[in-house]
Amino acid sequence: MENKKPFFYDITLRDGNQALKKPWNTEQKEVIFKELVKLGVQAVEVGFSGSNDMDFEACQHLAGIAPDNVVISGLARAVEKDIVKVADAIKQAAKPRIHTFIAMSSFNMKYVLKKDPMDVRKIAVDAIKYAKSLMGSKGEVQFSVEHFGDCGENISFVVDSLLECVEAGATTLNLPNTVERYRPLEFVKLIQQVKKAMPENVIISVHCHNDLGMATATTVESYFAGAGQLECCLNGLGERAGNTNMYEVAVALHNCGIDVPLNLTQIYETAILVAEMSNVPIYEKAPLIGEDALAHRSGIHQDGALKTQGMKKGAYRPIHPSLIGRDDGEKYGFTSQSGKTALYEIIKSQGYPVTVEEAIRLVPIAKEQAEKLGELPTDSIVDIYLKEIFEVEGLFKFISFKKLEAGEKENYNLKFNYKGNDYDLTEEGDGPLEACLRALASAGFEQKLVHYEQSAFGEDTKGVQADAMTVIQFATPDGKVITCRGKDPSTQKANVKAIFNGLNLIYKQ
Ligand code: KIV
Ligand code: ZN
Repeated sequence: MENKKPFFYDITLRDGNQALKKPWNTEQKEVIFKELVKLGVQAVEVGFSGSNDMDFEACQHLAGIAPDNVVISGLARAVEKDIVKVADAIKQAAKPRIHTFIAMSSFNMKYVLKKDPMDVRKIAVDAIKYAKSLMGSKGEVQFSVEHFGDCGENISFVVDSLLECVEAGATTLNLPNTVERYRPLEFVKLIQQVKKAMPENVIISVHCHNDLGMATATTVESYFAGAGQLECCLNGLGERAGNTNMYEVAVALHNCGIDVPLNLTQIYETAILVAEMSNVPIYEKAPLIGEDALAHRSGIHQDGALKTQGMKKGAYRPIHPSLIGRDDGEKYGFTSQSGKTALYEIIKSQGYPVTVEEAIRLVPIAKEQAEKLGELPTDSIVDIYLKEIFEVEGLFKFISFKKLEAGEKENYNLKFNYKGNDYDLTEEGDGPLEACLRALASAGFEQKLVHYEQSAFGEDTKGVQADAMTVIQFATPDGKVITCRGKDPSTQKANVKAIFNGLNLIYKQ
């Protein structure tokens, strides 16, 4: 059987709002409401109009500005005064829906409602009939069995009651996991039982709280078990540990090949806005939208992430970030657990030239720092790079390099110190580079130059002069190629610095 498109029923402005430390006023609700419309949800529960005047006004206002294709719903206890208030608040909407509810778990009926089950059933049926009479042919009635997740022990009573509720006029039956206590599979089995017992045209809805952190799983699996309506909250807001997070459900279904009728690219923008407006920050490990959701810190993950960067499916991510409108991309943090890939990517991202071989060289130095300090900030990594690549310390200490006199060939004087001994050498050459290499060879430090390149380093704008950068490669007798760089405002000095950086890399003892 092919699954129908899921129907997203948003409860941010009701369940989400009622759990805020400072519930939203009309103006604030309107901001969220407009975001929901951009996201493309099919239904919005705009509030609990019976709770206070502010919420009544907000519901009324949102019903007045709602697009015609969005169902506008209001929550009411199964009591006449709440139901009539909702009907009044949402009457301007093109698609109004009264959502009434009562608990049917044995525990709740006994200890909270303190009512006999048959009386509870009657209250539900009467409330639905009353709501239906107020909605007429224009609107619909949704009924919720509060604490449905606890109804495993009296499910036959619930099923029979729900059949009467449908008879009374409810077209959507919402089955909440009001408190998440058990396995998702147990809940899903109850959903299947109700679905099987109800007429085909009745819509089964789920509303899962996240007390044990499994609300997304429960909602997703309920969809595959026949729940057509999914009640979700933006950013997973809602009572206690919140409700099912809409983004997670939408993306999970999308990844399973379901046609999700939402503008998924709106998700990230919405999440940021809701966090600001609710004063509930997005925690860094939050799936999809958290700061760390795209960060890789272990070397193995960084390597896999880089090799699959830009691909729709990533080695270590569930989606391409652009699917949810995230343009910050994958991040590579450098810690003691990280490797060359992170260093290479971080240095490159700052606009500096670097090779993988150079990144490998920097790994032990960066790791040593990270062992003490934890994740290294980008600036510290750049400092390590500038120091270790352009000022390589070692046995050679460069002192000076000067052109002596003009002749057929030019003469240059090179002074340096090696292992505490001073060298003062004069050599001729076709240019400074050749003369410097010849001087070194005459002292027993002959090098085989296999590559030479000059370019600019740094900004050359707004009066800030770029340095000259020399890149040299020496082939060592053991068959390795050493890349070394030098930078200086003078091209000649950049050359000599590159050579001495190379010597300090080659001669370790
Ligand atoms: O969690 C719940 O049971 C509810 C109902 C009122 C739908 O929010
Ligand atoms: Zn709820």
